[in-house]
Amino acid sequence: MALWGGRFKEKASVQFKKFNDSLPVDYRMAVQDIVGSIAWAEALTTVDVLSQDEFTRLKAALLELKASVEENPQQILLSDAEDIHSWVEVNLIEKTGDLGKKLHTGRSRNDQVATDLKLWCKETGGEILFALVSLQQALLNLAERESNTVLPGYTHLQRAQPVTFGHWCLAYVEMFDRDIGRLKDTLYRADTSPLGSGALAGTAYPIDRDLLAQNLGFRSATLNSLDAVSDRDHVLELLSNASISMMHLSRFAEDLIFYNSGEAGFVEMSDLVSSGSSLMPQKKNPDACELIRGKAGRVMGSLSGMMVTMKALPLAYNKDMQEDKEGLFDALDTWQECMEMAVLVADGLKVNRARTLAAAQQGYANSTELADYLVSKDVPFREAHHIVGEVVLAAIEADHALEDFSLAQLQQYSDKIEQDVFGHLSIESCLDKRVAIGGTSRTQVQKALADIQGNHDSL
Ligand code: ARG
Repeated sequence: MALWGGRFKEKASVQFKKFNDSLPVDYRMAVQDIVGSIAWAEALTTVDVLSQDEFTRLKAALLELKASVEENPQQILLSDAEDIHSWVEVNLIEKTGDLGKKLHTGRSRNDQVATDLKLWCKETGGEILFALVSLQQALLNLAERESNTVLPGYTHLQRAQPVTFGHWCLAYVEMFDRDIGRLKDTLYRADTSPLGSGALAGTAYPIDRDLLAQNLGFRSATLNSLDAVSDRDHVLELLSNASISMMHLSRFAEDLIFYNSGEAGFVEMSDLVSSGSSLMPQKKNPDACELIRGKAGRVMGSLSGMMVTMKALPLAYNKDMQEDKEGLFDALDTWQECMEMAVLVADGLKVNRARTLAAAQQGYANSTELADYLVSKDVPFREAHHIVGEVVLAAIEADHALEDFSLAQLQQYSDKIEQDVFGHLSIESCLDKRVAIGGTSRTQVQKALADIQGNHDSL
């Protein structure tokens, strides 16, 4: 039964009902709707709409309903109620008769849905924070395990300078740290309660909305009722947080897909997160990473979809806003699932240290070191850069590494070069020199690891 039949002569068409109903999506807010209803019933006792005894009975029935949906949320889907708010109300009336019909006094589904959704966002946001920290922890473990593994660092997908595999892991730890900060900011802003804003103009009952907000675990009540019922910034912010974080996850996946390729052969993904080909028996494909990369696109699509839905809506509530949940729920489910998958990928990753070292030794990744060596011998950097460019060109023509030239050959390019140059050209020296904050030297990586691990331990 619909909540609003009185003004209508005819029943809605079956097609329209299906089009209009949001229960198949918003049933996931059942617990939030019940919790919000209990708080609202309590507020109604303070303005003498409900007696204490009535509140006690309503609360008991709502708690019973809560226990039942917690045990079996799917039962909700069997109903033909319009949305989760109608479903809760209809079920409450079934349990309590006429008393249940008093609950909606002074409340609108507009402030109700806004409140339910914020409660859902806060709860799910907390789970996502936990997933982000767990992912960081998996990367810290991998960084620790591979802190001495040499890896070619790239720019333009050309070998640039050697780094350590641990340093690569910690780059992603930083990205997920920013994601955590962004999500915390979003959750702080979302932490205000719209309940008591009514349909748009505010409730007609003199309810203490700050107390009501507190009872629901919110920091405070929203201020302007028109804004409160039509604000979906928290949905947009969460979708934006999810999109940025999925972009990070996608870059992580893309790096690993490349490292896992036959051409690079730097890593091997665990069988637990790979799949084979139906035709080519030799194939082992990095599907987990490819799906993470692919799903990032869908999450970003939800963000732009919601932006476009909101952009021309007049104040206050409009039914367009019912479209907010499908994309949000899907995006946050996907984000969470991708993080769990990334943990599995990181935990099971096998690094081929000989291949990463060999690759770092090729491609003249120590050229900057030779230039810095000349700088240490008082050659201005720009000149040193030019000299080394000539040495690299000659090495490419001779098809060998810089350190394969004899001292005499190197001295043809600059008489400042001496025997000690060879020590400077080693990978170890390339890495160990980078001791300034954020560099890839083993001391800096160890320090970063210890700092971040310390932060995690104190959580
Ligand atoms: N199901 C709606 C939503 O998710 C809430 C109902 C508001 N309906 C209304 N007629 N004002 O947005």
